[in-house]
Amino acid sequence: MINQSMIKISNLHKRFGKVHALRGVNLDIGQGELFAYLGPNGSGKTTTIRILTSLTNPTEGEAFLNGYSVLKQRLDAKMQCGVVAQHINLDNELTVEENLSIHGMLFGMSKKDRAMAIDEFLEYVDLADRKKTLIKQLSGGLKRRVMIARALMHRPKIVFLDEPTVGLDPSIRRKIWSFIKKAQNDGATILLTTHYIEEAEFLADRVAFLDTGSIITIDSPQNLMDRMGAWALDTMNNGDISTEYFKSREQAEASAQGRQYSGFTVRRVNLEDAFIALTGKKAIGEAAPAKSSHGGAHSSGHGHGGHGSHQKGGR
Ligand SMILES: Nc1ncnc2c1ncn2[C@@H]1O[C@H](COP(=O)(O)OP(=O)(O)OP(=O)(O)O)[C@@H](O)[C@H]1O
Ligand SMILES: [Mg+2]
Repeated sequence: MINQSMIKISNLHKRFGKVHALRGVNLDIGQGELFAYLGPNGSGKTTTIRILTSLTNPTEGEAFLNGYSVLKQRLDAKMQCGVVAQHINLDNELTVEENLSIHGMLFGMSKKDRAMAIDEFLEYVDLADRKKTLIKQLSGGLKRRVMIARALMHRPKIVFLDEPTVGLDPSIRRKIWSFIKKAQNDGATILLTTHYIEEAEFLADRVAFLDTGSIITIDSPQNLMDRMGAWALDTMNNGDISTEYFKSREQAEASAQGRQYSGFTVRRVNLEDAFIALTGKKAIGEAAPAKSSHGGAHSSGHGHGGHGSHQKGGR
């Protein structure tokens, strides 16, 4: 099923004192895949990427990038990668161009190749006019765009994107999406983390949901959504939002009729529904895994076309 394995992780554990941040993670990501690695805050996404990029050692387990061990063939493994770290790690006192040029040098690019790549990649992130600007004079979103250009300019085989689009405005986010897709079309294997779940829904071939250091499930976005049903009914009651799932729009609308609520929406199921259901504490198939992203919510009733346990009654 997996063609050539580009990112392979076996039984990865990481402990920070009492915190067991990774609890036996296994992953196999094939060449050219765009894989979304999703999970709530503190679930271990960045720790995984830090191990894969040799910034920290695992407590137990092993990982390989394009066949190179991140523990025993550190430099070879590192040379396979481009990384957008979660936190901005550019040199503030240097210009955009200098930051990118030093990076190109580290990856053995010639002066000519560096100059061409810098122009090409700054164009992609809409920063061609900021080449000579000092990093410290850029806004947070603009810095992140420089980091994205830097991660890709040496055309790495494997790209780690740890929340690459956080803080970017919607139009540049869309542009970055096509940029990420382009890197994939050019042959890169990409591991992406994001809290914008629609980003993963749109981009990813496969998705892993991670929760407190363990992978709960791996599947395609479509299969994960299909597990929920096709249509969602969000009902608002005294500030609480509940969500139920149905096979058809008609079933969702019928269920909304004659109930007590201050408002409701019928909409297509999205990947965020699956994320919330699966990373909630209850297993799928049991009642009430879903919470709303609007906060303060709970769910009553869950299932494929089933009705919830809301009390009946008119408004
Ligand atoms: N250097 C560290 N020292 C101690 N604990 C750490 C360290 N780095 C991470 N942790 C802990 O490990 C767990 C996983 O953290 P990690 O940064 O990998 O989460 P994450 O999934 O990337 O979260 P977020 O979505 O917030 O970025 C958390 O409990 C975190 O507090
Ligand atoms: Mg993180």
